[in-house]
Amino acid sequence: MTDRFLRACRREPVDATPVWFMRQAGRALPEYRTIRERATLPEITSDPALCAEVTLQPVRRLGVDAAILFADITTPLPGIGVELEIVDGVGPVIERPIRTPEDVARLRAFDAEAAVGPLLEAIRLVRREAPVPLIGFAGAPFTLASYLVEGRSSRDAQRLKTLLHADPATFHRLVAALVDMTVAYLRAQVAAGAQAVQLFDSWVGTLSPFDYGRSVAPHMRRLFTELADLDVPAIHFGTDSAGLLRAMADAGGDVIGLDWRIGLADGWAIVPDRSVQGNLDPSLLLGPFDAVADQARWILDQAAGRPGHVFNLGHGVLPGTDPDDLRRLVDLVHGAGARPTAFADPSLLTSATSRSAR
Ligand code: CP3
Repeated sequence: MTDRFLRACRREPVDATPVWFMRQAGRALPEYRTIRERATLPEITSDPALCAEVTLQPVRRLGVDAAILFADITTPLPGIGVELEIVDGVGPVIERPIRTPEDVARLRAFDAEAAVGPLLEAIRLVRREAPVPLIGFAGAPFTLASYLVEGRSSRDAQRLKTLLHADPATFHRLVAALVDMTVAYLRAQVAAGAQAVQLFDSWVGTLSPFDYGRSVAPHMRRLFTELADLDVPAIHFGTDSAGLLRAMADAGGDVIGLDWRIGLADGWAIVPDRSVQGNLDPSLLLGPFDAVADQARWILDQAAGRPGHVFNLGHGVLPGTDPDDLRRLVDLVHGAGARPTAFADPSLLTSATSRSAR
């Protein structure tokens, strides 16, 4: 059992940089696609053995340092009374979007065992077999609210942002209800055996720092506060969040996720009191491995062997990624060791030139 992932979350020294990939379980793996031919996403997440199997597939094939529970951010929503469908090529579609005070008032309290019992059982099964720590996760309330209000994926979260300013009371009641659900959901995941949790705030980058700080950060702070006694590391990830990193860290999280739009050293300089996770552009993995290797080394150079770096992509593995390249990337990150020597050359902290290119 390697615990270098948990050690890095706590900013302790490690024997090699830990690495895992967002969306490592799923569509990039042929053994997953075989299962998907006979089972839908909700069928997988309601079958403990199948869900555990899919969660473990990337651990076996890729040699990553953490497993992440296989589920979608929308998986808990039926537990508060929100029915949805996952539509091919579209993503989650909410049958009746939540837009009025009455819609919000109809949301039910979340009972984790009743809502996601099989998923909690899957966590117990994974813990019996996994050679690495298991990460539980949830969508962050703002991102979940964007699905609920928009009804589906929306690049700009326009309806939700309009609700925030046109009817703040309804916005805050909705987000508070989602915080309550998420706290109960993540506490149940940890009670079942999850050893770390990640909050995915995939749409947070649509917000100005003013709106994030005033209207979303207080909800996130309550969420992290209500998880604090669990004593498992919390990873706080957003995309397009370079301008929000300090505010996100102040809201909470032991580890701050970085996407690829900011250099790792620049991002870490904004949150020097935390661990960081990231941040290779996932689209590189659709091209030649040389480019992947160059930028992975550049990222490792910027981390410069400082304790507290978890290597990851800047967002999820894209469909079409070759799993052999993911495996090679894991080996490259591990082979680079914890790289104490890079401390010697401060130019590496900001240089865009990879070691291999010099
Ligand atoms: O990989 C797969 O194809 C498996 C099954 C699947 C998932 N989600 C797993 C998942 C499917 C078909 C979905 C549907 C879905 N959900 C979509 C459609 C397009 C797509 O990516 O498949 C979308 C956009 C969602 C909403 C969603 N899910 C968001 C915004 C996030 C947060 C991360 C992100 O990409 O911004 C998720 C998380 C998610 N979906 C995970 C898994 C296994 C999270 C955990 C992980 O990192 O593995």
